[in-house]
Amino acid sequence: MRVLVLHGPNLNLLGTREPEIYGKTTLAEIDAQLAALAKELSAEVRCHQSSSEGALVDHLHDAGGWASGVLLNAAAYTHTSIALHDAIKAVGLPTVEVHLSNPLAREEFRHVSRIAPVCVGTVSGFGAASYTLGLRALLGYLRRA
Ligand code: DQA
Repeated sequence: MRVLVLHGPNLNLLGTREPEIYGKTTLAEIDAQLAALAKELSAEVRCHQSSSEGALVDHLHDAGGWASGVLLNAAAYTHTSIALHDAIKAVGLPTVEVHLSNPLAREEFRHVSRIAPVCVGTVSGFGAASYTLGLRALLGYLRRA
């Protein structure tokens, strides 16, 4: 079972970016944790980060050819991107939305998710653990009876 892990804008700065909100774990560490967990659960992850909306859409299109599901932290595009909404819908892969912080406990402009309506579910607020919880949830969903 193969999973595309997609990280959106500014997430390459994790570790130094507002650590009081996002924690001190780097993106490379998150990707390593996901690879280890995937192996333990007999799956594989391929991780990509981009700060460009179009590149994220391209990764989703490409995943249609090889992935079983998607773990997506669209970062700020979560709140704005109809293009990502449409791409998730068009590709049709089960997608789990993840966030390190809890956007609903933050500024009002973060309270809307454009992608939530086309995702299986959302894991947010648990720091780097949101990703591992999200991967477990996605694999459980993909393997459901
Ligand atoms: C985020 C939350 C978003 O509101 C924000 O724009 C991010 C990160 C999170 O993981 O908590 O860049 O997706």
